[in-house]
Amino acid sequence: MNQLGLELGLQLVRVTEAAALASAEWVGLGNKQEADAAAVDAMRRAFDHIDIQGTVVIGEGEMDEAPMLYIGEKVGSGRGPQVDIAVDPLEGTNLAAKDQPNAMAIFAVGSAGSLLHAPDIYMQKIAVGRAAAGSVHLDLPPGENAIRAAKALGKDIREFRAVVLDRSRHERIIHELRSTGARVRLISDGDVSPVLSLGIEGGDVDMVIGTGGAPEGVLAAAAIRCLGGDFQGRLVPENEQERERALQMLGSDPDRLLTLDELVKSPDVLFLASAITDSRLLPGVKRLGARRLVSSLLLSSSTQSRHFIQSEYPAADER
Ligand code: FBP
Repeated sequence: MNQLGLELGLQLVRVTEAAALASAEWVGLGNKQEADAAAVDAMRRAFDHIDIQGTVVIGEGEMDEAPMLYIGEKVGSGRGPQVDIAVDPLEGTNLAAKDQPNAMAIFAVGSAGSLLHAPDIYMQKIAVGRAAAGSVHLDLPPGENAIRAAKALGKDIREFRAVVLDRSRHERIIHELRSTGARVRLISDGDVSPVLSLGIEGGDVDMVIGTGGAPEGVLAAAAIRCLGGDFQGRLVPENEQERERALQMLGSDPDRLLTLDELVKSPDVLFLASAITDSRLLPGVKRLGARRLVSSLLLSSSTQSRHFIQSEYPAADER
C-alpha cells in the first residue's frame, strides 16, 4: 500500500522551502558554515509541523557530532506514517557561499527501512535516465558506458554529455569519456542536481559518473526511483575506520555493487528539492520587495509525477 501520497508530499515541500529560504540569506557571503547551519536549523524546525513519525537515516552526522538532524533522530509530529528520512539541507555549501548555480535544499522520504543507511564516506556512482536504463554497469570502463548509453538513447556519441565532478581523482574517467567523442561537463560541487536533469524534459545531461558523497548517492538514487532510470553505487572506504563503518551499515561485503533496489528498497518514495541558487530546472530564491519567492520540485515514485511548485513568503523579518 502506498502511504506516501502526494498530499504528504505537498506538506513536505514546506520543509525544503524553509531550508532554502533560510540558506538563501547567506548566498554569496563566503560563509558556507553559516549557510549550512541556517538550512539545518530551518529544516529541523519545519519537520515539527508535519504528520510523520520520521527517523533520520541520512543526516548531518552521528548524534555526538551533529546537534540537529543527526542519524537516528526522530522528526515529525509523532503522528502519521513511520518513515525513513534522508536530508541534505544544503547540497552544495561552496555553491551557496560563492553564489554559484545548483545549491539546493533536498530530502527524500521512504517507508521505514527503505533507504540505505549510507555512511558519510565516498561512493562510486553512475546514473542514467529512463531511456538508458539497463545499458550501463558501474564495472564497465566509463567510455564503454558512454557508448552503450548513447546507443540506447539513439544519440551520436558526439552529442552525448556526461557530468563529472572536477576532481583529480576523475582524470582517467574524463580522459576515457572524451576519447570516445563524448562531451564532459565538469562541475565544481553538487552531484545530485545533474541527476535530476537526467530525467526531466529540457535537461541536457545523459549520464552522471564518478566518486562523490555516499549520502548524496542515496538521495540521487531516491530521485531516480521517482524519475525512472538507473543508479548504481559502491562505497569507497578510505581507511579501516570507514571500512568498519561501511560494514556495519551494509551488514556484509562493503565493496559490493549497490543496485538502485538496494539503495532505495521501497517503490514508495518522495523526493523534494528547493533551489537556493539558480539551476537549470529551478530558479533560486528571489527577492520580491519584502517577499521571497522559492521554487521546488516534488517527485513521487507511486504516481511517477513531477510537481514544480512556486511559493511566495514574507521575508523572515516581516513574519
Ligand atoms: P557539500 O557537503 O559541501 O554541500 O558538498 C557536496 C558535494 O559536492 C556533493 O554533491 C558531492 O557528492 C561531494 O560534495 C563531493 O565531495 P568532495 O568535494 O570531497 O569531492
